[in-house]
Amino acid sequence: MKHPGLWKMLTVAMCVALVGCLQAQELRGHVSIVLLGATGDLAKKYLWQGLFQLYLDEVGKDHSFSFHGAALTAPEQGWKLMAKALESLSCPSDMAPSHCAELKDQFLRLSQYRQLKTAEDYRTLSKDIEAQVKQEDLREAGRIFYFSVPPFAYVDIARNINSSCRPGPGAWLRVVFEKPFGHDHLSAQQLATELGSFFQEEEMYRVDHYLGKQAVAQILPFRDQNRKALDGLWNRHHVERVEIIMKETVDAEGRISFYEEYGVIRDVLQNHLTEILMLVAMELPLNVSSSAAVLQHKLEAFRGLRGLNKGSAVVGQYQAYSAQARRELQKPEGFHSLTPTFAGVLVHVDSLRWEGVPFTLMSGKALDERVGYVRVLFKNQAFCIQHERHWAPEQSPCLPRQIIFHIGHGELSHPAILVSRNLFRPSLPAHSWAEVQERPGLRVLGRPLSDFYAYSPLRERDAYSILLSHIFHGRKESFITTENLLASWDFWTPLLDSLAHEVPRLYPGGADTGCLLDLELNGGHLSFSQQQPEQLVPGPGSAPKPSDFQVLRARYRESPLISAWPEELISRLASDIEASALQAVQHFGKFHLALSGGSSPIALFQQLAMGHYSFPWAHTHLWLVDERCVPLSDPDSNFQGLQAHLLQHIRLPYYNIHPMPVHLHQRLCAEEDQGAQTYAGEISALVANSSFDLVLLGMGTDGHTASLFPQSPTGLDGEQLVVLTQSPFRPHQRMSLSLPLINRAKKVAVLVMGRTKRDITMLVSRVGQEPRKWPISGVLPSSGQLVWYMDYEAFLG
Ligand code: BG6
Repeated sequence: MKHPGLWKMLTVAMCVALVGCLQAQELRGHVSIVLLGATGDLAKKYLWQGLFQLYLDEVGKDHSFSFHGAALTAPEQGWKLMAKALESLSCPSDMAPSHCAELKDQFLRLSQYRQLKTAEDYRTLSKDIEAQVKQEDLREAGRIFYFSVPPFAYVDIARNINSSCRPGPGAWLRVVFEKPFGHDHLSAQQLATELGSFFQEEEMYRVDHYLGKQAVAQILPFRDQNRKALDGLWNRHHVERVEIIMKETVDAEGRISFYEEYGVIRDVLQNHLTEILMLVAMELPLNVSSSAAVLQHKLEAFRGLRGLNKGSAVVGQYQAYSAQARRELQKPEGFHSLTPTFAGVLVHVDSLRWEGVPFTLMSGKALDERVGYVRVLFKNQAFCIQHERHWAPEQSPCLPRQIIFHIGHGELSHPAILVSRNLFRPSLPAHSWAEVQERPGLRVLGRPLSDFYAYSPLRERDAYSILLSHIFHGRKESFITTENLLASWDFWTPLLDSLAHEVPRLYPGGADTGCLLDLELNGGHLSFSQQQPEQLVPGPGSAPKPSDFQVLRARYRESPLISAWPEELISRLASDIEASALQAVQHFGKFHLALSGGSSPIALFQQLAMGHYSFPWAHTHLWLVDERCVPLSDPDSNFQGLQAHLLQHIRLPYYNIHPMPVHLHQRLCAEEDQGAQTYAGEISALVANSSFDLVLLGMGTDGHTASLFPQSPTGLDGEQLVVLTQSPFRPHQRMSLSLPLINRAKKVAVLVMGRTKRDITMLVSRVGQEPRKWPISGVLPSSGQLVWYMDYEAFLG
């Protein structure tokens, strides 16, 4: 070869050109968009306009389009309905009317109606698309099927698309779903499994239209473009609290049959507000335009969410709701619904970044105004001496410091991002966001607009048009993956279960609601800040109210019994434990406390952590009553529960914490590892006479206590202080203090809560000391005191 260099250059140039050609070819092609439910409300209100906008954005670029409106209605009637929806299509205000008319005309020519009812209809649709592509000498790029239909229709349609409407090789399929995606974790999982049998994960686009709202879609880019300013601020050291709010003035009238089944938590908090929470709380990927990285980081943020309990939420219902439900659902006169139309929920993210920062999620119908926003309020260390009139209005450290992603409505009435001027001047994409013009007198969340650097989108765009564009471009980060969906239900389902029978606070609705729904953050809990006025709350059904009862003192199995409503009971038990602790420390310098795991003590742990600041933790030794044979980091481990709800909130010296050694030599509860003996040795060495100052026990529905189950061959008697046992429930292997050791304690408190304990409570009240049948009946401290703490449901049923 004479000119090897030249030849090489030519080859490279050809390759570059070829790759360029291939890429260009890759881009060009025909896209068919099938809108299922083309004559329905959502289609009429948003989707046709969104598709038209997509056409306006993409026409003349790399693709040709056809739009197929589909429904069950017969062709003639269906076309009429669809044509009505298409009449009101509009162009952006800056487009010349003649150009708009021309494009609208083109769009209408590309849109057709078809009835999709039978499997044959789907086959015909596919053949027609193929024929059109062939006839017009196009290459098929892909097909989008938008399911704007009720979820019960999903599976049949999915089956038909999968079996006869997939495009040929090289072209993509995208199917788009609208919520609800299930009703709880189980139903969401079932639906996901069914859909997953027809479609690949990358083919599915689950819409949460809030992810298309401009201020929401800008959260990650904003965090990215302002990394420098935010890096040091976006954390627990600087953020005081975060509020994620969606207030509505409309009520649920007209959609009660849906609403009655879902309520505000499922309708709004589980999806819209949770997605926003994730965008605020997630770690920022290096590359925010990588869908995979964004989705992965979001999923990791879900893992950091601390579990919710009843005390995390308050619920309300506007007063007219039950009457509307009776009317729309033809219910009898006495029917009262428990469905919440208002909810406030306090969420914590257990990560190094966010630990201790309260995130309040709130939404409600029939409130005084319509507005949606996310507010990140920063701590303010300033202590200002001079009167406000001397503050430099723009820069003063005395003013609140906040960043607001204003989703819409409210006094501002449009999407915006506002940053307090005493924080930093934010950077936003100049081609699409601009500074808001000053509007005298306008206030945002109580502050004049002039307090903020305020930016709004140059062109306001509807969420659906943004999401349709993201679907078209395959931008999956704006949609809910299966893992994301299940993680969210995983988080919300326990709270929903625990609230299922909660009587919501009634509110009049609109401005009359006054301060009735105002919230208060109280340690780890959220509560209404006002007592519920009696006259407003006849209360559906005849459930007794806490005030109907006093704390009841009685005897149970010949020992003292304290009974109250759960909250009061827990606070009484926590105070009693603190009193024992103070006494023990005063006399002996130490307090040895052995705690059980499970769900009942969680509220107690939280109460101790958040409400007992004089507790002598520095002199307290914490022991475990029992443990499941799982690694200590396992969510099932009792130690984990203790860690999550108590240890991480208090200051206990590390050497005073005594987890059970269930995980030795990289195996779990192996006899040869002698974990039980080691624990017994530790107790004998540190606790005088192996006599704990206080042991907290529970009682299972089968009469078990600690991890001592009926008929247990170990632990019910004998010399051993600590034993390995078997549980009928998973995980089966356990380690437990033995009855003889428990009975050496100076005080034993047994906490029994909830209606499910009613039967065993009755039974145990009548039996003698038969630990083999009911281990709890063997609890009888030899020289100490036994006290029963039971809530009314466990005690009275
Ligand atoms: C929907 C809920 O997802 O969002 C409705 O089902 C709610 O109950 C609506 O009214 C609010 O959306 P937007 O876009 O009007 O704020």
